[in-house]
Amino acid sequence: MSQTLRKYRADYQPPTYLIDEVALDFDIRDDRTRVRGDYRMRRNPASHGRPALRLDGRGLTLVSIAVDGRMASDEEYAVDDTGLTLFELPQACTLTVETSIDPEHNLSLEGLYRSGDILCTQCEATGFSRIVYFPDRPDVMARYRTRIEADASRYPVLLSNGNCVETGPTDPGRHYAVFVDPFAKPCYLFALVAGDLGLIRDHYTTGSGREVDLRLYTEHGNEDQCHHAMASLKQAMAWDEATYGLEYDLDSYVTVAVSSFNMGAMENKGLNVFNTACVFARQDTATDADFALVRDVVAHEYFHNYTGNRVTCRDWFQLSLKEGLTVYREHQFAVDQGSPGVTRIGQVRTIREVQFPEDGGPRAHPVRPDSYVEMDNFYTITVYEKGAEVIRMIARMAGDDAFIAAVRHYLAKHDGQAVTIEDFVVAMEESTGLDLEQFRRWYAHAGTPHLRLDSDHVADTLTLRLSQHTPDTPDDRDKPAFDLPVEIALFDHRGEVVRGPEVLRLNQAEQEWQFEGLHEAPIVSALRGFSAPVQLSQAQSDTERALLMAHDSDPVSRWDAAQALYLEALVADASARSAGQDAASAPAVLFEAIETLLDNPPDDRALLAEMLTLPSEARIGEQFERIDVAAIGAARRELGTDIARRFSARFERLADEHAACEPYVFDVAGAGRRRVFACALDYLARIDAPGLRERAVDAFERADNMTDRMAGLSALRDLPGAERERVLADFARRWADEPLVMDKWLRLQATTRRDDAADTVRRLLADDRFDFTNPNRVRALLGGFARGNVEAFHRGDASGYRLLADEIVRLDAINPQLAAALAGLLAPWARYVAPQRDGMREQLNRLSERSLSANTREIVDSGLAAAAG
Ligand code: TRP
Ligand code: ZN
Repeated sequence: MSQTLRKYRADYQPPTYLIDEVALDFDIRDDRTRVRGDYRMRRNPASHGRPALRLDGRGLTLVSIAVDGRMASDEEYAVDDTGLTLFELPQACTLTVETSIDPEHNLSLEGLYRSGDILCTQCEATGFSRIVYFPDRPDVMARYRTRIEADASRYPVLLSNGNCVETGPTDPGRHYAVFVDPFAKPCYLFALVAGDLGLIRDHYTTGSGREVDLRLYTEHGNEDQCHHAMASLKQAMAWDEATYGLEYDLDSYVTVAVSSFNMGAMENKGLNVFNTACVFARQDTATDADFALVRDVVAHEYFHNYTGNRVTCRDWFQLSLKEGLTVYREHQFAVDQGSPGVTRIGQVRTIREVQFPEDGGPRAHPVRPDSYVEMDNFYTITVYEKGAEVIRMIARMAGDDAFIAAVRHYLAKHDGQAVTIEDFVVAMEESTGLDLEQFRRWYAHAGTPHLRLDSDHVADTLTLRLSQHTPDTPDDRDKPAFDLPVEIALFDHRGEVVRGPEVLRLNQAEQEWQFEGLHEAPIVSALRGFSAPVQLSQAQSDTERALLMAHDSDPVSRWDAAQALYLEALVADASARSAGQDAASAPAVLFEAIETLLDNPPDDRALLAEMLTLPSEARIGEQFERIDVAAIGAARRELGTDIARRFSARFERLADEHAACEPYVFDVAGAGRRRVFACALDYLARIDAPGLRERAVDAFERADNMTDRMAGLSALRDLPGAERERVLADFARRWADEPLVMDKWLRLQATTRRDDAADTVRRLLADDRFDFTNPNRVRALLGGFARGNVEAFHRGDASGYRLLADEIVRLDAINPQLAAALAGLLAPWARYVAPQRDGMREQLNRLSERSLSANTREIVDSGLAAAAG
């Protein structure tokens, strides 16, 4: 079960056989499913050595195997745990493999499995090998013809990739459908769905006049939650034409929403499968954040049709080729739909709060990893989001138009191919003329570069000195200098721009730039828009920060200046507490800056809310070599209550001014209004301000939308008392039949700041409304607790760690992918102070003694291998 076979990028060998045509035949029965594959193959001219063929297969029952219609004898092949090898084959032949599988009892959510009453597939990365023996690698691309036969009343809807070319009845009560996908594709993009499904339909006319049939299937009764997803799809299709000149290439685009899904969604060619959490959005059940998530995931999967499907990855080490580029395209799209500044701030937050910790922990790996045990463990924030930031730097250095032209060049040059990140970089160089030799290091090295910026003003000349250093990561020491764009602008003391914005290209360990003709020392705004995924430290006074916070023309930099002010105060206080000294109070400048902000708020309301929000515990923790959760939590709570106390009257006014007055619309103005309302309630709740409870209950009861309702509920979250219990019970009663809404109910309780939070989680694990086999429920309750209730999870008595480890063991037996993801939360023990470090390590050791899946084993082993420091 847990053989640790490590795969290396350097070991890549081309496939021995190419497969031109695949015919699949699914015979779906209640007790088992028969799958027959006919593969038209020929020897790969690029492959030398013996004409042996490796087929991957896991958990399969082999029924038969034949070469050109002749049954293979036992001497011609050997079966093992992970597949079978055919020793010798003709130059060209048709191979027929038949297997029997059991989707009814497949809880791993990969291969063919049941979600509710729907049968569906998930093949990325290597789920196809759980369906039938096949070379399960993305560089084997074939055209597929798929026949599905099943019970007509249980499975009236049958779907696969491409066009439906035939349907009809077979035996009494059964029917079949045949699909042909005209585009050659790797098997990870194969999909099949069978079920009794509700449907909403629409259509889209492409720029060149192609009519595309748009269909979105879901379990009956949920159709009215799917209109936002459909509208988002059309927006994404129009955006990709307008921005990249890319038109959809099939006659239909089908999406199926399923409730049990390990990730957000999957871009199977012409037949996307989505987690319901990334499809459903109706104003009474989904928040503004949910609406944005649905819009962005729908766009992401659509954009994969070119960046991922038309041009795919040669091997899984190249995953960021499709994910980094597609996330970057999704980010561009999101910025164009919403508030540009606040959308970008959200992206920056994810990098700093989630990616930087990964890059500084035991699981640090390059955007293009060099080795892995289990590929599923490498669908990481580094491959996705840092990968997107790396692309963004190329776009920044090339300029937007040149970058888009370069992407078009890349897609044209490699259309229909499975390629590498190196191929992508070469295409970028060819088209833009940039020299990316040194830039390639971003793909090869793990770790977050630390930049230091010093400035010196003498006479009328400003000297800026930038230096960079990247800390060691587990298997990568003494890193060379990176090539990166640092956007800067200079401001005078009235807040007027005196120079820039301009981009400094840093590519040495240390570099200097001079700016002449500056009579007064300017204020330096640096790393504007977060122009590179680095940590920047800059000697700057609080007064200078306050000035940028009030006047910087870049919203990201305004927010960043506010964050820097908060961070400095929080770090000073947390350090003092950690050293057993008296708490350190925040400087007056900080409160003056908040007052200025409240007096002159930005037009973008969401930006105001962002600027009033304190850095998360994760961000504060990143400032420390060793994380002291208790000290950080206390410092953050203290500053929060201090701000709330000083400005309570202002927050009351903000809440009044931003309370719901118009019917709900998901747009920039509406979402901004609701952000400020929630933020004001949050501050008032910190001091249990008079009237706050009534206000929160009122918002909960009267809102016409889930965003304001959740604002009320969240404000009551940490305030024990009758209001909280009544509102929670009301919520549960009202939404008992909406599992995704009940996830909010689970998460809210899991994140309640109480000493006995772990007991609450244990109680909810046993609740009927919880379902251990559904990843959304597990993420809401266990993920909510371990990520969103930092102090309770890291309690000194290790009760949080024990709880998580217990559940990882249980989960690992059914869903290794999800269990491994949760185990990752225990891995960075070495970053913490005692007793947390010992408590986390102890649970890793406990896990290590169990028999574990390869997925979870890889995470536990790498966590334990981390230096004890
Ligand atoms: N390719 C999917 C995406 O768009 C990721 C994905 C979906 C996935 N389901 C998965 C990856 C299951 C691994 C396993 O990002
Ligand atoms: Zn993706």
